[in-house]
Amino acid sequence: MKETKLWIDGEWIEPRNTYDLTSPYNGELIAKIAKGSPEDVKKAIEGADRAFHSFKKWTAYERAELLYRVVEIMRKKKEELAQILVMEAGKPIKAARGEIDRTIATYQFAAEEAKQVRGETVPLDAAPGVTNRIGWTKRVPLGVVSAITPFNFPFNLVAHKLGPAFAVGNTVVLKPANQTPLSSIVMADIFKEAGLPEGALQIVTGSGSELSDALVTHHLVKKVTFTGSVPVGLEIKKKAGLRKITLELGSNSALIVEPDVPLEHMIKRAVEGAFSFSGQVCISLQRLYVNESIVDEFTEKFIEETKKLKVGDPSDESTDLSAMIHPKEVIRIREWIEEAKNAGAHVATGGNFSEYHLEPTVMTNVKPDMNIVCKEVFAPIVSIVPYKTLDEAIGYVNDSDFGLNAGIFTMNIENAMKAADEIETGTVNINDIPTFRVDNMPYGGVKNSGYGREGIKYAVQEMTDLKLITMKTKL
Ligand code: SIN
Repeated sequence: MKETKLWIDGEWIEPRNTYDLTSPYNGELIAKIAKGSPEDVKKAIEGADRAFHSFKKWTAYERAELLYRVVEIMRKKKEELAQILVMEAGKPIKAARGEIDRTIATYQFAAEEAKQVRGETVPLDAAPGVTNRIGWTKRVPLGVVSAITPFNFPFNLVAHKLGPAFAVGNTVVLKPANQTPLSSIVMADIFKEAGLPEGALQIVTGSGSELSDALVTHHLVKKVTFTGSVPVGLEIKKKAGLRKITLELGSNSALIVEPDVPLEHMIKRAVEGAFSFSGQVCISLQRLYVNESIVDEFTEKFIEETKKLKVGDPSDESTDLSAMIHPKEVIRIREWIEEAKNAGAHVATGGNFSEYHLEPTVMTNVKPDMNIVCKEVFAPIVSIVPYKTLDEAIGYVNDSDFGLNAGIFTMNIENAMKAADEIETGTVNINDIPTFRVDNMPYGGVKNSGYGREGIKYAVQEMTDLKLITMKTKL
């Protein structure tokens, strides 16, 4: 039985306590995971601060080379890394391989970005009476970054925090999700092999508000970056004081389907958007607004395509969907579906459960105030709602507490641009699902979806301070 330790100051430290990590797919014990304490977090932060004082002096070239070496090592270990996702997250192997490819791309973007961090000159003589002075800005690293990451993309969403942090010379204390610590633990070894200095990455596994409080409130922490739920995001925002923060908090993402769209081109893609990794994706397609003139044909085809998905063992090459991350999530969703049915919603396909999984489920006749519509379902459930006019559809999309990504399929450029202008989200994908993301895009939301942007170049802005230097050139 694997027993993990805490990664502090470049050493694997024996924890005082452990917790059991079990498989989301069948509940079998996978490993005993080190349970860090607030005291461990304190040590990790202090060590990361010590490491910062030398790491910040690395040149852009050295930081880029470090990240390129991470890319090279990951390329050689692709299959081994994908299997970790299968085991700890229950991610189907096809999707797991996709995540590893994306993670490699993310670290590659970070390596490239390390060489692109720049300031500008400031025309000080534009102010009256100012002569013989020059001014310029540079982006400087902040120091220790606390990173708290979710279970759904355990490699790639960690990369979205470590990549930009190391690209600019910050150090990081990472707390991965309780259910997916093994992927972060293997990254500690990869970064060590790539030559990251001792202490620049610290990993404290475990859970609980005491641990996150310690990560957020220590005076040496200069930035907190978090991906997860709205309630935890709000707590972090309250406790972070004047520290910089980035919060990525999910959504109930929507797609509009206009009547001028050839359906055969987009149905498969929409099914993918709704059910990838059992809908446990912040930009999973949850609300489908389809023009009333095509809604019957659309629904029939969508159901037909949904029924082709194979639910099963995540390690099976043909599996499309596997278990939800925890049986308690199945119970939650079961209640939400029951509640919707009692209020008149119809299960058009799916709706069956086991202890660990839920079938891909399509709901119709839903109402805006049902939990499966207005909350983030984070499960393989999508609802289809007809609309009459584009204005009405945009109104539905915007009738949400969230605003991360949205999509519209239309062949009409004016309608596409109207949707792009009027939809209130961080991203609008024209002729694609809200779930479309590549890792150099600015990524983040408005409303309850969060605060700040990821996507390496944009995260670099949030993980640095702008420093101005002026010089008098004639005394
Ligand atoms: C997320 O769930 O926040 C990330 C989605 C993605 O990177 O595709």
